[in-house]
Amino acid sequence: MKTSLSQAALDNLLENAKTAAEMSYSPYSGFRVGAALLLDNNQVVTGTNVENVSYGLTICAERAALVRAVSELGPKIRIRAVAVANLNGAASPPCGACRQMMAEFAEPEAAVVFPAASGTMTMRFDEVLPLGFDMKLKKH
Ligand code: THU
Repeated sequence: MKTSLSQAALDNLLENAKTAAEMSYSPYSGFRVGAALLLDNNQVVTGTNVENVSYGLTICAERAALVRAVSELGPKIRIRAVAVANLNGAASPPCGACRQMMAEFAEPEAAVVFPAASGTMTMRFDEVLPLGFDMKLKKH
């Protein structure tokens, strides 16, 4: 896909995501995920997945990065790109819950970089979440 970011910037973001995955707390699935957000001020904020014995409480790497970014930088952050990596050699596009959470902060043209079956894929945010829930869509 076309993005205003250079391939080097996206590769660097992916490296940050891989490094973040080293911190994963994933004793239940063994699936070690890292995410890196590139913000509009050029800061990179990373997160990793944190699991829980009550499985449903697990937080994904992407959402961990997002809540960290808002906590550290405030509610006005804008996401220009997000990279996801895992240390398991598997495909891992961001899950639906993470797409919906990031939608509030991501530019429609933000690059989403993730491991797919065919190799690393880059897509626009509005391609990976074409119709997220948004109350602005209501007509009344
Ligand atoms: N996981 C993520 O961190 N990101 C995703 O987008 C999907 C899944 C984590 C959650 C859980 O710890 C492990 O991967 C297996 O589902």
